[in-house]
Amino acid sequence: MDMVIPQHVAIILDGNGRWAKSKGMPRNYGHAQGSKNVEKICEDAYRMGIKYLTVYAFSTENWNRPQDEVDALMKLLRNYMKTCLKTAAKNDMKIRVIGDVTRLDEDIRGRIAELEESTKNNGGLNFQIAINYGSRDEILRAVRRLARDCKEQKLKPDQIDERIFEGYLDTHDIPDPDLLIRTSGELRLSNYLLWQLAYTEFYFTDVHWPDFTKEELMKAIEQYNARDRRYGGVKEAEDV
Ligand code: IPE
Ligand code: IPE
Ligand code: MG
Repeated sequence: MDMVIPQHVAIILDGNGRWAKSKGMPRNYGHAQGSKNVEKICEDAYRMGIKYLTVYAFSTENWNRPQDEVDALMKLLRNYMKTCLKTAAKNDMKIRVIGDVTRLDEDIRGRIAELEESTKNNGGLNFQIAINYGSRDEILRAVRRLARDCKEQKLKPDQIDERIFEGYLDTHDIPDPDLLIRTSGELRLSNYLLWQLAYTEFYFTDVHWPDFTKEELMKAIEQYNARDRRYGGVKEAEDV
């Protein structure tokens, strides 16, 4: 049987710190390697036929880390935006940053805007990067805008359905993930895509993010193929 390639894969890239520690290196070395791996996996994912890839790069809770680590992560994001501008053009990637970018430095915001603008007509991989992203924060920002629009009579409260609500999320117009991958052994969502993952299949692996290769991605897809996906109904109702 042919392998079904999930249309949208979401990844919680975790374990950079532990990976570095296991090599006797500082945590920030792990982040540098992890950032390089994101570029590799983007290419691999697209070659496999994945159309949407959404990665968790920095959460709303990650500000609680020591200042030097936050600074190092922001510096990596800055550099990443620059290389991404080149690789996106080469690979025809369309980039969207999800999360509340208003808390990021001016220059990073500028780079994000430039990256989104210059890739918006690309037809290859749709690549979403979650930066200062928290699902609860995303939902609250959506609710505030919705409430404002109701107050300004742009819509009535009774008109709000799933489709309208989704239009206010950072992920508007992007299909829900089919497969969620979390590396490095933790079995939690850490405030990632709570609305969007309602019917997503979950895959957890002990592999740390910098060691997550295309072979590991293939394993996740194989397991995804072995799943019996349901949406509350019965499988193949016509056979019952
Ligand atoms: C994931 O690796 C990257 C970010 C959260 C930015 P971690 O930094 O969480 O690594 P561990 O979980 O401490 O090993
Ligand atoms: C989740 O990983 C956030 C990102 C991958 C960016 P964390 O390592 O920050 O999550 P917790 O703290 O273990 O839940
Ligand atoms: Mg972690």
